[in-house]
Amino acid sequence: MADFIRVAAVSDVPDPGKELVEVEGEMVALFHVGGTFYALDDVCTHDGGPLVDGELADHTIACPRHGAKFDIRSGAALSMPAIRATRAHEVKLENGDVFVRLRDQATGPVTQPTTPTASATGSQPAASSAAAPAPATEGSSTPAASPTSGEGLASQSLSEAVIREMLKEVKDPELFVNIVDLGLIYNVTFAAATEGDGQQVSVDMTMTSPACPAGPQLIADTKRVVSSHKDVTGVEVRIVMDPPWTPDRMTDDARDQLGIF
Ligand code: FES
Repeated sequence: MADFIRVAAVSDVPDPGKELVEVEGEMVALFHVGGTFYALDDVCTHDGGPLVDGELADHTIACPRHGAKFDIRSGAALSMPAIRATRAHEVKLENGDVFVRLRDQATGPVTQPTTPTASATGSQPAASSAAAPAPATEGSSTPAASPTSGEGLASQSLSEAVIREMLKEVKDPELFVNIVDLGLIYNVTFAAATEGDGQQVSVDMTMTSPACPAGPQLIADTKRVVSSHKDVTGVEVRIVMDPPWTPDRMTDDARDQLGIF
């Protein structure tokens, strides 16, 4: 097991406040809230954002990149687009100094100190890591639509229901859930092609966050899937951020797959 490493003096970090510290070569976000210190990996599990640069509100830190929130007591991911907890570390206070011990992700609940005035051994359990949403692992992904079903849909009469069903083939590359069950598809509309017999399809689509790094891939996959329908001659994908996406747009299937509700 790793040793406790002194990272700061209690007086170095205002309350409430945060500071980036280094522990055995790893960057750790140290938080001081309500007289208690907490330590998390300085890494957002969505796409690596630096948590210590985010906004701290009570016991929640918001990633400065796309806004995912984490509970500083347990590392639990509280909001999209993050779905996995970040690692929380053990903290103890001793003679006015703050010590952090790196914690293996797979070990039990982290313990935290009581107050800065506590002596060497004062500690209390922080929120259990079990409070964090269950990680959505790659293994939790939904099976892709079979080629047979995709081909079948592509030859059916063109309708919004058929397009939505086809779009279940498109999955968010980080969440491994299809974009229809995630609630990303707002509208599907049709217009007669200016030439020939086919239809032009417009898909109004949103993202889980304004700067979603998966955006270009989702747009390209959506165009590819919709244009595979026999009656489609053109596809336009419009990104719509109003109304903004919220987790309640997800289907129960998506929630089950993500294990976050
Ligand atoms: S990197 Fe943190 S929310 Fe995207």
